[in-house]
Amino acid sequence: MRNTYPVGRLMMLMLLLSTTLFVKAQTDLITNAPARDGLSLDGKWQYIVDPYETGFYDYRYKERAQDDKEAYWNTDVQANKLDRKEHGFIDKYTLNVPGDWNAQDPKFLYYEGTIWYKKKFDYTRKVAANQVYLYFGAANYQADVYLNGVKLGMHKGGFTPFNFHVPDSVLRAKDNNLVVKVDDKRHAAEIPTLNTDWWNHGGITRSVRLIEMPAKAAIRDYTLQLSANGNTVEGWVKLDNAANGEKVTVAIPELNISQTFIAQQNKAVVHFPLPATAQRWSPEHPKLYTSVISTATNRVEERIGFRTIAVNGKQLLLNGKPLFLRGISIHGEIPQEQRRAYSPEDAAMLLGWAKELGCNMVRLAHYPHDESMTRLADSLGLLVWSEIPVYWTIDFTSEAVLQKAKQQLHEMITRDRNRASIIIWSVGNETPVSPVRTNFMRTLLETAKQTDATRLVAAALEVNYHSKEDLRSIDDPLGEYVDIVAFNEYLGWYSGTPASCRTVQWATKYNKPLFISETGAEALGGMHADSLTLWSEEFQEWYYKEQVAMLKRMPDNFVGISPWVLADFRSPRRNNPVYQEGWNNKGLIDQKGNKKKAFYVLKEYYEGKK
Ligand code: GCU
Repeated sequence: MRNTYPVGRLMMLMLLLSTTLFVKAQTDLITNAPARDGLSLDGKWQYIVDPYETGFYDYRYKERAQDDKEAYWNTDVQANKLDRKEHGFIDKYTLNVPGDWNAQDPKFLYYEGTIWYKKKFDYTRKVAANQVYLYFGAANYQADVYLNGVKLGMHKGGFTPFNFHVPDSVLRAKDNNLVVKVDDKRHAAEIPTLNTDWWNHGGITRSVRLIEMPAKAAIRDYTLQLSANGNTVEGWVKLDNAANGEKVTVAIPELNISQTFIAQQNKAVVHFPLPATAQRWSPEHPKLYTSVISTATNRVEERIGFRTIAVNGKQLLLNGKPLFLRGISIHGEIPQEQRRAYSPEDAAMLLGWAKELGCNMVRLAHYPHDESMTRLADSLGLLVWSEIPVYWTIDFTSEAVLQKAKQQLHEMITRDRNRASIIIWSVGNETPVSPVRTNFMRTLLETAKQTDATRLVAAALEVNYHSKEDLRSIDDPLGEYVDIVAFNEYLGWYSGTPASCRTVQWATKYNKPLFISETGAEALGGMHADSLTLWSEEFQEWYYKEQVAMLKRMPDNFVGISPWVLADFRSPRRNNPVYQEGWNNKGLIDQKGNKKKAFYVLKEYYEGKK
């Protein structure tokens, strides 16, 4: 009997071959995702908790084949009453997307591992020839994405967006099965590494959407920035599948500007004068102009502010004028609900607190926050320090780890390069000094500058607050390569008492602006005692009073501070059974959203700096 392949299997093989040819790595990021045509996939997703990754590996721990019916990306519907299924997605088990899983069910509070998500959706393209992409605001930490049993791609990195092209052969008008495996286990060779002072919230933590783009001359990415001399808008527009000579129009209706540029090799270079009468963006006047970018087939609107930021010797200059940063460091968490922040409402609460404090700047630590934070900062007039989680003891010897850091840096800058509020790209925090680390970090600083020459680059340096002498100099070799020398000091908390602030002298050998990127002390909200009692609000209040007095004696290159931290946040490293219980309580606002006494000390200091 001729060994004939059953037709069905042949068809399966054909489909498999055709689609696996399509499975691409992740495609270049589509910017301004919220404004694009498409479909939001936010809402309830079914899930399967899979700590042993049974849906991905067989019982010999071999990765399952694409068509393995036990694989969790394949349909879980029981074909008949003899069809043995040992996995399934049903409405009894659902999670909200966006949102970390830890906060959605008590059984997940300390869960780290894999959870599979599934979303069914129908989708009919507006124009049959259009191309469709799946866009994720973020998923922590590794996301493997499957559509109708076909793997679209894999992304690593818990705080930056990514998108995959959806092949025409994979997308259906009805009953699409989108399955996403999210694994938030920590690893030494990842970014961040095993050890962080924040909880590793896992899941599809930010919004998901389908994006539909025209088949020809689609606008994928663009940037419009004010030149260093403050007179010209410069940038570029990147297109998909455009013919050489494609016309690209950039318009700012409020300024009666409309300019047309010609694309070559899918890119149009943009360059036009900005009238002197146009209002420059600043914290006091956060003016945003509706900018419209269009081709024959595609149109994207973006509200953009135009400003310049520069360093001149020891000074920071915003629109050519000296700038003092009244900052606060912020984690992307909502303390009252112990969850990752992900919405415009979350951003309004966190940045509203910063405004109440009298801030003109926020340090979004230690990773890129949700896009709603940087967009709202644009509108509210809050300058932003944005950072990738190259935090503490990263594996600086690994080229693969450097590539991961570069990828996250690229994704952070690509998503937010049109945000006027962002003035500083930070490539890390408190990395231990060594030649291999300094080389690693210098490479990241140079990469940031090459990717975006219009902003300042920095990293939060650690100073030795355990030294006994009163003169403390910030001489980290990385200071050679940053635009602003930023350092974290905890004088009075991790060493000495707040009274130690009275005699200390800070200095740096670098002729650059000097910035305190962290200082702070813990207080359990509502715990009151005398100021010498640690963990009391009164102790934290004293700490801030001494720090503020010290700030009045800083050297002449001191340009500001972003104390640690706006609000209490979850940390598995903080286990005092009375005063911490898994929380880092250095917030000026406590776990319930109440302001502590120290909040008003900093507020008063900032009042005097306006
Ligand atoms: C470090 C670190 C923070 C940490 C803080 C603290 O400076 O940058 O992430 O939470 O100190 O000790 O509370």
